[in-house]
Amino acid sequence: MEKEEEDSCCRIGKNLRIAETYLREGKLVAIPTETVYGLAANAFDEYAVAKIFEVKNRPDFNPLIVHIGSLEQLPFIVSDLPPLALLLAEAFWPGPLTLVLPKSQHIPTIVTAGLSGVAVRMPAHILTNRLLTNSGIPLAAPSANLSGSISPTTAMHVYEQLGNKIPYILDGGPCAVGLESTIVSFMNDSPVILRQGGILPEAIEAIVGKISTYSQAASDIPIAAPGMTLAHYAPKTPLILGNPIDWLMLNDCVPEKIGILSFQRNYNLDVPGATIKCLSPSGDMYQAAQRLYAALYELDASGIDVILAEKFPQESIGIAINDRLTRAATNSLTSRILPFSDTMKN
Ligand code: TXA
Ligand code: MG
Repeated sequence: MEKEEEDSCCRIGKNLRIAETYLREGKLVAIPTETVYGLAANAFDEYAVAKIFEVKNRPDFNPLIVHIGSLEQLPFIVSDLPPLALLLAEAFWPGPLTLVLPKSQHIPTIVTAGLSGVAVRMPAHILTNRLLTNSGIPLAAPSANLSGSISPTTAMHVYEQLGNKIPYILDGGPCAVGLESTIVSFMNDSPVILRQGGILPEAIEAIVGKISTYSQAASDIPIAAPGMTLAHYAPKTPLILGNPIDWLMLNDCVPEKIGILSFQRNYNLDVPGATIKCLSPSGDMYQAAQRLYAALYELDASGIDVILAEKFPQESIGIAINDRLTRAATNSLTSRILPFSDTMKN
């Protein structure tokens, strides 16, 4: 019913039948996952996939992740499955792990931006999993934000950015992990982590042994997730990463309206008048990760001049959080990463 009433206006709902119908018609649907919301199209339909690039304003050299609902779908997506990759899939799927594997001929080149490897994952979200298994359609889906912006972790985040461009957002509530998937490539002699995310490197190493992580700065490994070189994860407000108190003491000319993004410290008394987002008063880094993007959306909407963001302890999921905050800071025109940006000690 919802769909028939009005095709041109974006709906938010939980109706899998509507989502599937749009996808079969070659239209785009935003889908919830445990990491962030994705902007999905039928991965076998190159015209539908082309719309993803158009709607997101995404450069055509940046490939997409294909989402599947069961291991049986994998042979249609990849042409080879190394034993270690299968072990990772069995250990972490459904879950926030993406594997880059040799692409099957069924996958249109637009999905992989011409690369010989295809990124694939099985998300862990009940609605999207049902959509994938009921329909049998593998879904190509990048995060459902405009290229370069903050990834959405609620249906409303998607609506704010893409509501005038897509017909349907499948509402699965707030994302449980809140950070994008960890990406592991099997396109070289040994596996490489291309992006830190929801699955920790330690957990991956427990299965595949010692694994290297791709670093743009020390790129001894000649491969990368093309998207990781772009402006990414950036709020509109300039973001400075480091110790907020140090920054305030060292700067004579401080903007009037300040936002602070902290891990667990409460700055109410230290910086009166600031807009403060404390991600986890109890010091739980997974909770902080889950709330991170929503806090950045809220800070962006609150009319502040600058966001002072604490750096997280460089351990556990804190490594992935710091990765995103560093990109947000680097990509903000007027922002920078403080040279003295020690991890907060409290
Ligand atoms: O958690 C996630 O991974 C979310 C949800 C929606 O699944 N998706 C997501 O997609 O973060 P996106 O497009 O925002 O980021 C995917 C990253 C990009 O940096 C892209 O360059 C890289 O994965 N990637 C995709 N396909 C690749 C391939 N064939 N080889 C290397 N990197 C690839
Ligand atoms: Mg993205």
